[in-house]
Amino acid sequence: MIGGLMFASFSLAAQSPAAPAYREPFRPQLHFSPREKWANDPNGLVYYNGVYHLFFQHYPGDIIWGPMHWGHATSKDLIHWRQQPIALYPDSLGYIFSGCVVVDSANTSGFGQKGKAPMVAIFTHHDPAGEKKGNNDYQYQSLAYSLDNGHTWTKYRQNPVLKNPGIADFRDPNVMWYKPGKKWVMTLATKDRVTFYSSRDLKSWTKESEFGEDQGAHGGVWECPNLFPMQLDGATYWVLLVSINPGGPNGGSATQYFIGQFDGKKFYTGGSTTKWIDYGPDDYAGITWNNTGKRKIFLGWMSNWIYANQVPTAAWRNAMTLPRQLRLVRPVGGGIYLSSLPVQELNSQAAKPVMLNGVPIDTLTDLSGRIGLSATQYKLTLHSDTLKDFFITFSNLQGQQMALGYDKASNRWYIDRGLSGNTDFNKEFPKKFFSPRIADSKALDLTVVMDAASLELFADDGLTVMTAVFFPDAPLNRLHIGTKEPWKIRRVTYTPLRSIW
Ligand code: FRU
Repeated sequence: MIGGLMFASFSLAAQSPAAPAYREPFRPQLHFSPREKWANDPNGLVYYNGVYHLFFQHYPGDIIWGPMHWGHATSKDLIHWRQQPIALYPDSLGYIFSGCVVVDSANTSGFGQKGKAPMVAIFTHHDPAGEKKGNNDYQYQSLAYSLDNGHTWTKYRQNPVLKNPGIADFRDPNVMWYKPGKKWVMTLATKDRVTFYSSRDLKSWTKESEFGEDQGAHGGVWECPNLFPMQLDGATYWVLLVSINPGGPNGGSATQYFIGQFDGKKFYTGGSTTKWIDYGPDDYAGITWNNTGKRKIFLGWMSNWIYANQVPTAAWRNAMTLPRQLRLVRPVGGGIYLSSLPVQELNSQAAKPVMLNGVPIDTLTDLSGRIGLSATQYKLTLHSDTLKDFFITFSNLQGQQMALGYDKASNRWYIDRGLSGNTDFNKEFPKKFFSPRIADSKALDLTVVMDAASLELFADDGLTVMTAVFFPDAPLNRLHIGTKEPWKIRRVTYTPLRSIW
């Protein structure tokens, strides 16, 4: 989203200025959020020397979108984050928009010194003056490098390295080393498609091909692409993530993906169904970490441009999703899909779980007492050999609730945040969101991760994922499950999760 900022009138929901950092109302306790002020897309995800780096679109001056910087946070385990000084500031070429970081081990760029490989950031410079004038060439790609493990960054003197050919939306470079061709490949969002470029030295770029003008969803502009190989049954497939805004399956921002082949120049795909990495309203601009070998870990921005500037937090605005491990899977019925599940490192936060076996469920079964929900954040897993039409509500004594369930007649999962508390800052917010069920197994396999202000649903071993944020006045720690037909759930497991802060 660029421009069109909305200034919200929001209720401050008992927000006290004296609240200690990371303990304010609505503050995520399992997810990364900026200590202060505005955040959007994750940028420059890279693993290097034992550290996961998370850069992010950041405006340190306010809790609304503004002149973009790259914020920075680091983690050793993807769960506990430490915010670092701002990595990149706007300059005479413009704001610092989204992009990536690569480790240039062979020093192809020549930025390395004394045998030290550079980390190189490839990002979009966005010139607000050019945009205001109505030009169409105000976005171009630039470089910065770090020789001290990402702590400090030097911008390349000859920026930009990829000039704008006259396309107003020309941004969000994502670069990978293409081993067979011994070259770098950049995937760039170019309005209604992606364009691939290649380079030997990260400085001079040649256009290779375009993809997508006639593929996938086109309800809005394409943004934040990410191309990477993955394995399934001994074969290599290429996955291309493309965010789109608006035009998501539930309105506004969302991320579609394509599975195909890439030959160093061109991306090919056969499928015609549009696939979404997350069908909920709040997972956008997600990309994967570079330099993690075969393991692919995804992180998205947990918001939606429809209301991102209006949600009722005061010290900061917007968080990231949980890091999710991606796998390729081939469900019965054909086709190849991505499955995403929270990274196993999240288990380090687990307190003692409560397990219920053979749980009889009728029209409305209150499990609050048996489970003794006391935590603000927790994981709930449900396993059963049968899957019925059912719903779960997570509620508080004020009657605020998040609901989710499976609608058998339409074979869809859903999340309903209509009654979730503070919802009146945008009329698109209090809604029910649906997602097709992709799996066709008879069994129930559901994991839900609840945080202070978000719910992430992972159904059918991560084949269908839905993320939604919400803003209750008190934790939703009462649990009900209901069904239209009598049912017994084989196992319900409730695991309180400790705060990461
Ligand atoms: C996606 C996006 C990117 C852009 C950045 C600006 O959310 O619009 O395309 O680089 O945000 O903050």
